[in-house]
Amino acid sequence: MTTKKTYNWAVLGCGKIAKKFASDLKLLENANLYATASRSLQKAEEFSNEFGFEKAYGTYEEMVNDPKVDIVYIATPHSLHLEHSLLCMNHKKAVLCEKAFAINEKEVSQMIASSKENNTFLMEAFWTRFNPAFLKVLEIIQSNELGALKHVKCDFKFFAPFNPEHRLFNMDLGGGSLLDIGIYPVFTALMTLGLPNEIQVEAELAKTGADENIEMLFKYTNGNSANLASGLKCNAFNASEFLFEHGAVRIFRELDQPLLYKKGYELTSINIENSPGLGYQLEAKHVMECLDKNLLESPMLPLSFSLDLIKTLDRIRKKANIVYPNHDKQ
Ligand SMILES: NC(=O)c1ccc[n+]([C@@H]2O[C@H](COP(=O)([O-])OP(=O)(O)OC[C@H]3O[C@@H](n4cnc5c(N)ncnc54)[C@H](OP(=O)(O)O)[C@@H]3O)[C@@H](O)[C@H]2O)c1
Repeated sequence: MTTKKTYNWAVLGCGKIAKKFASDLKLLENANLYATASRSLQKAEEFSNEFGFEKAYGTYEEMVNDPKVDIVYIATPHSLHLEHSLLCMNHKKAVLCEKAFAINEKEVSQMIASSKENNTFLMEAFWTRFNPAFLKVLEIIQSNELGALKHVKCDFKFFAPFNPEHRLFNMDLGGGSLLDIGIYPVFTALMTLGLPNEIQVEAELAKTGADENIEMLFKYTNGNSANLASGLKCNAFNASEFLFEHGAVRIFRELDQPLLYKKGYELTSINIENSPGLGYQLEAKHVMECLDKNLLESPMLPLSFSLDLIKTLDRIRKKANIVYPNHDKQ
C-alpha cells in the first residue's frame, strides 16, 4: 500500500533548463512549486513570479535550510553538481540532479555515498528514460518482434558559436559536447546494448580543451556495435536508429515526431501519444512515485546505471584526451 502526498519542490539554479522544467512541473497536481534559489535574489524572485513558486532565495544555502523543501531539482553546470547535490543531501533533501550527473566517476561515487549516508533519494535527471518513444523502443527490443538488436546509430549535434566563457566551452564549467549532449547517444547505447567491450574515439577539441565534435564507435564481443556522435559545430537530425535482424526503428529527439518502424521491407510510422508539456514532468512524476514508496533510488534509473554511464564517459574522455583540470587531477 502506498500513500500519495504533495511534495514541495525547489529549483537550485535559475538558468535555461530550469525554466523548461518548472513549466512542466506545473502540470503535476501533487507537485507544489515551493521555492527557487539563485545566486541573485532578484533572479530568484523573477523566476518565482514567472512560474508561481511561493518563495525565492538569494543563496542556495538559505533554500536548503528551509525545512519545508522536500525535493530539490539541481540545474547548475555539471561541474557544480557534486557540490550542490551534497549540499542538498546533507540537509536531507531528495535530489533530482541534471545530467551529466557530475564530471567523473569519483564525483558520482561521492554523490551515491552521500545518498546512502543521509538516507536521501537521488536520481540523475535523464528525462529521455521516461520519454514514451524511447519506452516504445525498449518494448520492441524486449518483444523480439524484429529479431535481435544488432546496431545503434545515434547523434546529437547543434551549432553553438565558440565562446570560451560559456559553459559549453569553459572547462571550469564542464565544457564540451560529450558531457552536455554526447551523453544522450552514450546513454542510448548503454540502455539498449549494454556496456561496450571496446571503444574507438575521434574528437576535435576547441582552444579551451572542450570537445566540439566527437565520433564514437562502441564494439561488443557478440558482434554488436554502436555509432555515436555529438558536436557543437553543425546541426544534425538528432535521431536514434535501432537496427535489428529483421527490421529497423528510428526515433527523433523531437517528441511530436512519429516513430519510423520498418519490418522487412514494409515501412510504417507509429504515432506516440505524448502528454502535454515538454516531457520533463515525467521524470518529476517518477521521483514523487519513488518517494511515495520510500525508495532511495529509482528502479527505472538506478544509481548503478548512472555510475556505469559516467565510467563510460570517463573511458571516452581518456581516449579523446578531454581533461577537466579542476576535477580530474585532484
Ligand atoms: N535535460 C535537458 O534536456 C537539459 C537541457 C539543457 C541543459 N541541461 C543540463 O542542465 C544544466 C544547466 O544547463 P543550462 O543550459 O540550464 O545552463 P545555464 O542556462 O547556464 O544555467 C545554469 C545555472 O546555474 C547557476 N550557476 C551557479 N554557479 C554558476 C557558475 N559558476 N556559472 C554559471 N552558472 C552558474 C546559474 O543560476 P543562478 O544564477 O540562478 O544561481 C545559472 O543560471 C547542465 O548540467 C546541462 O547539462 C539539461
